[in-house]
Amino acid sequence: MGPLEGKVAVVSGAARGQGRAHAVHLAREGADIIAMDICADIDTVHYPLATPEDLDETVTEIKRLGRRVVATRTDVRDPTAVAAAIDSGVAELGRLDIVVANAGIAMYDAADTMSAQSWHDMIDTNLTGVWTVCRGAMPHMIEGGRGGAMVLISSVAAHVGMLHLSHYSAAKAGVVGLMRALAVELAPHMIRVNTIHPTSVNTAMIINEGTYDLLVPGSGPAARHGANEVPDEVAKAFKGINAMPIAWVEPQDISEAVVFLASESGRYVSGTQLSVDAGAAAK
Ligand SMILES: NC(=O)c1ccc[n+]([C@@H]2O[C@H](COP(=O)([O-])OP(=O)(O)OC[C@H]3O[C@@H](n4cnc5c(N)ncnc54)[C@H](O)[C@@H]3O)[C@@H](O)[C@H]2O)c1
Repeated sequence: MGPLEGKVAVVSGAARGQGRAHAVHLAREGADIIAMDICADIDTVHYPLATPEDLDETVTEIKRLGRRVVATRTDVRDPTAVAAAIDSGVAELGRLDIVVANAGIAMYDAADTMSAQSWHDMIDTNLTGVWTVCRGAMPHMIEGGRGGAMVLISSVAAHVGMLHLSHYSAAKAGVVGLMRALAVELAPHMIRVNTIHPTSVNTAMIINEGTYDLLVPGSGPAARHGANEVPDEVAKAFKGINAMPIAWVEPQDISEAVVFLASESGRYVSGTQLSVDAGAAAK
């Protein structure tokens, strides 16, 4: 029996990257999963978001572990759609114990030339989209009367200023404020709320030419790189973000923190910001 046997977790942005890793890791520990992802692109984002096939692969991996899963194509910017997706997941799986509000986007816009659309897409997805998932989950968790845990995925960018990420940093810092308020408001129900702050993580969000070009101007779209090949000078620039001499962490490193906060091991941990950032914010 895994430590999360009998529990149900909702994970947003579950089709690929960290979201898939969290969903699969929680399932391995025994939880059934309500998975949601937009599975479509957003115009202002410079790299492709997940596809329906990505979400199918997450479902397959969860089922292979013998766990149940309810997956929907849901945009976290839409509170009504998110609530409906969570309601139908709870109707099928019977309860809700854990929230991992993970869906997010990143794009690089200089503060002085950023379009209003870019700002709104970022705040709507990375801040409002965290609220919609918490809001959709709360009635079920409170009504369940068994407590629970919410893990909100923020970023090292909530703690340090980063180039061309003013909208992203504002959203991720906003998630900390939301977390603190919810931690206080939901504490009487024994529902804990915490944030995780990853440094660069090896996913499609940052392993793309737009990021390469930001870190090492001229290394991006103009240059030619193999599919999974990160140019040396770019890897070196990624390394410069962290205190430890590594370029990035893996999605599983964040999943370990998610499972700790979601499980009995973290039963009195609430209102905290857990950095998994190779010392980046301490620099
Ligand atoms: N990769 C990094 O370096 C890094 C660092 C710190 C924090 N984060 C955060 O981690 C989280 C996961 O990102 P990732 O690295 O796995 O990137 P990713 O792009 O691989 O995954 C993000 C997922 O969210 C989904 N998504 C995007 N907008 C959505 C919307 N409106 N509604 C529903 N789903 C949506 C995408 O389709 C995708 O499947 C994000 O919140 C991100 O900001 C990432």
